Amino acid sequence: MSKPTEALSGLTTGEKASLTSGASFWNTKAIEHAGVPSIMLTDGPHGVRKQREGGDHLGLMDSVPATCFPPAVALGSIWDPELVGRVGVALGEEAKAEGVGILLGPGINIKRSPLGGRNFEYLSEDPYISGVLGAALVNGLQSQGVGASLKHFAANNQETDRLRVSADVDERPLREIYLRGFQRVVTEARPWTVMCSYNKINGVYASEDPWLLTDVLRGEWGFDGLVVSDWGAVNDRVAGLAAGLDLEMPSSGGVTDTQIVAAVADGSLDESVLDTAAHRVLTMVERVVDGADASAGYDVQAHHALAREAAGRGIVLLKNDGGLLPLARGANVAVIGEFARTPRYQGAGSSQINPTKLDNALDEIRVQAPGAVFAAGYTVDSADGEDGSPAGLVAEAVAAAAAADVALLFLGLPSGDESEGFDRTHLELPAEQTELIEAVLAANPRTVVVLSNGSVVRLSGWGQRVPAIVEGWLLGQAGGGAIADVLFGVVNPSGRLAETIPLELAHTPAYLDFPGENSHVRYGEGLFVGYRYYDARTMEVSYPFGHGLSYTSFGYAGLEVAASESGLSVSLDVQNTGSRTGRDVVQVYVGLPGSAVVRAPRELRAFATVALEPGETRHISLDIPREELAYWNVPASGWTVETGSYTVEVGASSRDIRLSASVAVAGDDVVLPLDTDSTLAEWMAHPVGGQVLGGAFAAAQASGGGGEMLALMSDPSLVKMIGSMPLGRIAAFPGSPLTPHVLDQLVAAGNA
Ligand code: BGC
Repeated sequence: MSKPTEALSGLTTGEKASLTSGASFWNTKAIEHAGVPSIMLTDGPHGVRKQREGGDHLGLMDSVPATCFPPAVALGSIWDPELVGRVGVALGEEAKAEGVGILLGPGINIKRSPLGGRNFEYLSEDPYISGVLGAALVNGLQSQGVGASLKHFAANNQETDRLRVSADVDERPLREIYLRGFQRVVTEARPWTVMCSYNKINGVYASEDPWLLTDVLRGEWGFDGLVVSDWGAVNDRVAGLAAGLDLEMPSSGGVTDTQIVAAVADGSLDESVLDTAAHRVLTMVERVVDGADASAGYDVQAHHALAREAAGRGIVLLKNDGGLLPLARGANVAVIGEFARTPRYQGAGSSQINPTKLDNALDEIRVQAPGAVFAAGYTVDSADGEDGSPAGLVAEAVAAAAAADVALLFLGLPSGDESEGFDRTHLELPAEQTELIEAVLAANPRTVVVLSNGSVVRLSGWGQRVPAIVEGWLLGQAGGGAIADVLFGVVNPSGRLAETIPLELAHTPAYLDFPGENSHVRYGEGLFVGYRYYDARTMEVSYPFGHGLSYTSFGYAGLEVAASESGLSVSLDVQNTGSRTGRDVVQVYVGLPGSAVVRAPRELRAFATVALEPGETRHISLDIPREELAYWNVPASGWTVETGSYTVEVGASSRDIRLSASVAVAGDDVVLPLDTDSTLAEWMAHPVGGQVLGGAFAAAQASGGGGEMLALMSDPSLVKMIGSMPLGRIAAFPGSPLTPHVLDQLVAAGNA
């Protein structure tokens, strides 16, 4: 049988146009006479949402059962590409078993504001974590012959007005924060497809932006896959195709195909552009056909167990005063809160999975503590309140708490608060829950709060009064068991925050700009997203980026840092200084004090997870490739490593730096071209420009004019004063020897 890609030459213009738009909600078109089959693309990201019939992109209609792995908010807290990669493999197995060729994920957009309605679908506020874990997911998935669709490319950091809003973001934050993770995944994991986002970036729709889809994605990063539109993201299909958008999804019923054919006919679209897009569709189809296996299946139990393992590793122990946790087997506990019985385990929208089974924390806690008493405390949307009245529920909870040794209080955000399609407007838990905390605490100070939320909630206030807090995010179908594992010490918590928990909403970096107005959102905080902002402003936070406790403790010693041409090598000893086996996440941050450009005080540049027995010490080495040290140099339009003494910090969070060292790095020689708009200081700092300028002034002096200019160049205090003047302006001053002709000569000689 011939390969799909060989079909291209036999297709008509109309067939090629139709091939580059969907056949339905989830399928591409088949062209039977040419041997091109239809393939299926489906959500994503943390499970396979294959709809049984009909189609909708908001998770409304029923889908076949699949493992609901922990959503990205929990996967991001794992900080371990090995485990996240295994989740990717399992996703690939399930997709393959369901005949799904492309799974629509992972989503790696930056959590710019904790209000972002889809933050639960994203990994981190930091592009390094997003990139490393995103690449692990893609590699795992694609190892099974199923393609990934890296999304949403790019700067889709809010839901408000998402189909029209323009993310107005400066070049450096765009490159260093918002595109950086995509760059890593594209270059390291080579996803088969990238999904362009709905929004505009600096006024241009992502779906028709040649700079984004072609110059950067393909030209700079070497992407060789297919660009698919987010569902309904096409604004102008002809412009999109020309910009590098290969496949429109879902089907537009042939309407836009006609536009393509007409554009080719009237010469406004070169047919070779259509050929390229059609070839990319055929290449994707070919990869899917090659990877397909009609006999594939998967082990439902094993995947549930993996979902439990990943959920356990994504839980973050925020606080554990007095070592209240872990609980002993058989402990006398009261389990309070409807979420313990009716778990909130995933977010709403296109990522909503129909789970193969669903654990709840209450049943799993009772495996460890059979006598655990339950009180609902409050009602959630879908649950039936036992006693009905809120006061009755609180009284029941208080009685249960008072009679127990420890109260386990399950709280969280109602499902209606967080979803695709809209953003949150506040960070608060429902008032009935915060009132319940006070009542339960008064009855039993030994209270552990377990949270279920897709993005951070405000903890300041009650969070200070509660001795222990377990951040349980949204943990997928096996989260109930994972929570019990952590509470009873079956799993020693090792999750770390991939997003800062701020004291309050008004402290967040995007507070004044989010979500914008009149279809524009200004990224006014620039580079200072997440911890980069709080650290730069030395602001107090509830829990910093990277934070997470363990039931054991770790010590760091012997930091050594060496610079070479390929980057930095960092090594140190990590010791388990406590009495339980545990897993640490060593975090390495890099900064450049005194940098010539604006920078955050520290940025995560490497991390490693290390499992250690009590007392065990491990020597670990981490490499920081040279390109990780670079900033985006706007005038040079490229990545530049600045010369300087870099600070390398090793810590347990961005605020708990344990070791630090400085290392000298020789930077890149970047010589920007000179022109008459370059300042005197820039001319003088230029390796050639300074000399030719001095020469011109000396020549002028010798011929009787311009001597004061030569004197000026050698007087530092004068240079400081007028160094910021463009040479062209200096030239215009009376008596200046820099005639237009001399200026032309200088520019030519300076750039020679
Ligand atoms: C979402 C995508 C999703 C697609 C298909 C869109 O609304 O933004 O993430 O993959 O629908 O369901």
